[in-house]
Amino acid sequence: MTRILVVDDEQSMRDFLQILLHKEGYAVDTANNTDAALKKLKNSGFDLVISDIRMPGTSGLEMLGMVKELYADLPVIMITAFASPDDAVSAMKNGAFDYISKPFNVDEIKSVIESATSQKSEPQSREQLADSFPGIIGKSREMLKIFDLISRIAPTPANVLIYGESGTGKELVAKAIHLNSKVDADHFVPITCSAIPEELMESELFGHVKGSFTGAIGDKAGLFMEADSGTAFLDEIGELTPIIQTKLLRVLQEREIKPVGSTIIKPINVRIIAATNRILEDEIVAGRFREDLFYRLAVVPIRVPPLRERKGDVPLLVDYFLQKYSRLLGKEVQKISSYALQVLMNYDYPGNVRELENIIERGVALASTNIILPESLSLAGGLRENKQRISGEPLFHAVENEQELFDTGLDKVMARLEKRIIRHALEKTNNSKMKAADLLQVSFRSLRYKITKYGIN
Ligand SMILES: Nc1ncnc2c1ncn2[C@@H]1O[C@H](COP(=O)(O)OP(=O)(O)OP(=O)(O)O)[C@@H](O)[C@H]1O
Ligand SMILES: [Mg+2]
Repeated sequence: MTRILVVDDEQSMRDFLQILLHKEGYAVDTANNTDAALKKLKNSGFDLVISDIRMPGTSGLEMLGMVKELYADLPVIMITAFASPDDAVSAMKNGAFDYISKPFNVDEIKSVIESATSQKSEPQSREQLADSFPGIIGKSREMLKIFDLISRIAPTPANVLIYGESGTGKELVAKAIHLNSKVDADHFVPITCSAIPEELMESELFGHVKGSFTGAIGDKAGLFMEADSGTAFLDEIGELTPIIQTKLLRVLQEREIKPVGSTIIKPINVRIIAATNRILEDEIVAGRFREDLFYRLAVVPIRVPPLRERKGDVPLLVDYFLQKYSRLLGKEVQKISSYALQVLMNYDYPGNVRELENIIERGVALASTNIILPESLSLAGGLRENKQRISGEPLFHAVENEQELFDTGLDKVMARLEKRIIRHALEKTNNSKMKAADLLQVSFRSLRYKITKYGIN
């Protein structure tokens, strides 16, 4: 039976979780502070800890650190308050398995617990695993599965097919496989199949000899020769034409190439990593992709899941991109407001990680304070609706924290608030100053004066 320790200073919360988890068939014990929790952990084999992050005395975060030090493999789920993205980020950074935020969504709790407890017998701890791929951010269960797969298959010569929606990080995965292989790091030769016209494709892949066609002014080695005894990365493989597919299949079967216009056959030894944002099985059914080629390429298939299936990674990615773009753009924007993060958590990302990266880059560029507010998120249609749905509050929310308040000062903060409120009233009334003044219960003259003063149009 799976044993769970619930740590929370609030009795009602402990009771709630205990009853809920008990109903789900778990054995549950509780502790009301960090010391009590550590004592209980010492004596018995728990499989999971669920802990509030904010507790008097030693905080949940500190406890997390201690637990991870003592029992590296014990998963800990942190409970954060609704509007505290910093907590979520710190929790994930400090090794939490995941976090759940209040108010609770029961299905979410169940699924997080399920993934935490089904992961017990991992050979490597999650931390170690995630840390061995520094350029790829993610600690969600889905990403850890990928990391695990990469570390197991990278040293083998097996061909790999990476598939997933655009912007999910397929190229990063391809490079990670190469870097963890036995081949030296420089020996990675990429080609984007869709970028090359069909007439040139054969020569790009297999090379040509001087004079073999108009424009062949010298010998060309081609991708496979260049990548010999290394890795060839065939990006957007789904775009290959049938003729090239057939030629590629032959090369993979025979392990040798014949450059265009040459009679000499050369043996090659290349590991192929291919990527596509198409579902090749569907392409096969539709007669657009050769099934035999598919099996040659997809000895190990890796699906990179869309970002909406691993939302737990959003805070980590946001943090990572904030650091990156603050540095690149020479700004000091290191934080995101709770509401802005809520907006981002509630978005579906049709463009996946690339879209999130662009949003943060723009956010950093547009931010006028050292924090990203919902209004700095200039977003696609769907996200804009989300923003309005979720950010009912920021209208009266002019600073994010004490630091910003003191940095900005009372006058400026009040002005900022006033401006926002007036804007809001004008939007509501379709820019009727009369009606807006009415709504705000001020005189028309006073409103007009403020509109001019703040340069609102
Ligand atoms: N897990 C991640 N951590 C950090 N950055 C990421 C991650 N996933 C994607 N990115 C970034 O998002 C962008 C898109 O990633 P990448 O080019 O690997 O996607 P892709 O799946 O190859 O997309 P496409 O199908 O459009 O070629 C890149 O800038 C990449 O650095
Ligand atoms: Mg790509």
